[in-house]
Amino acid sequence: MSKITIAELLARKEQDGKIAMLTAYDYPMAKLVDEAGVDLVLVGDSLGMVVLGYETTAPVTMDEMIHHARAVRRGVARALLVGDMPLMALRASAPEVLRHATRFVQEAGCDAVKVEWREGIDDSVRTMVGANIPVMGHVGLTPQTAASEGGFGLRGKDAESAKTIIAQAQGLERAGCFAIVLECLPDPVAQEITKRLRIPTIGIGSGPHCDGQVLVLYDAIGLYERLKPKFAKRYADAASLVRGAASAFVNEVRSGTFPGKEQTPTMAPDEADKLRRELDRKNSTQPSAHSRQSK
Ligand code: KIV
Repeated sequence: MSKITIAELLARKEQDGKIAMLTAYDYPMAKLVDEAGVDLVLVGDSLGMVVLGYETTAPVTMDEMIHHARAVRRGVARALLVGDMPLMALRASAPEVLRHATRFVQEAGCDAVKVEWREGIDDSVRTMVGANIPVMGHVGLTPQTAASEGGFGLRGKDAESAKTIIAQAQGLERAGCFAIVLECLPDPVAQEITKRLRIPTIGIGSGPHCDGQVLVLYDAIGLYERLKPKFAKRYADAASLVRGAASAFVNEVRSGTFPGKEQTPTMAPDEADKLRRELDRKNSTQPSAHSRQSK
């Protein structure tokens, strides 16, 4: 299968084809989701919570993002690879934001970056797009600032706040974004944005009428148990799988059934005999440590 391009994603919207995006944070998972056929792989700053164990995504650094993005790059052959700009990279001036985005492209080999909406972000988007770095936007619930904006619930519940979010999405499109994530928006609001934008919308907790859908991989496979967002469908129970495998290992080590014959390396019997004979001969010609001490 050929590599996914931005032109193809835009064409997909025109042809009513749906876009599938998942997050990944390391090489093996990236390879699996890429082979499964996702169109985009996002190295989300959700890694701060689901991989690094922080309480929120706020402490995630650019160095942490680059470290994981480089591993993911090695696993992704077909999907478009997007690096998520963490909060501390977006709090800067437009030239500084560009410097961080350039790291995603040059050091990690990402095809694009993603930015959560915040005041003044359109300027930074224009600067990055002007430097040929494709940018994906993100409106609605923006996890980086959610704690100071009333928590992790639905956004755009009333007409006034919905109009504000629609305007933010339109601003990001005008600034040059090639796609936009809509997080935790009521279905009618997601539909309005999807209808009004030329670029694809990729929903998370925003209903079925977006041009595509994204999930945090560890929610989708049931590996992150601390939070269970209502909108995040679980397609597997990886936590039980891992726990089951780990406890079977512990039991087998304790009972002595692992390693078994199949996992035990051996050597030619004549070589093993020779080894024992030679070691025995050496032992019988050398004084033991005990006899040396007693002299
Ligand atoms: O960080 C992340 O994983 C995200 C997705 C929820 C879209 O931003």
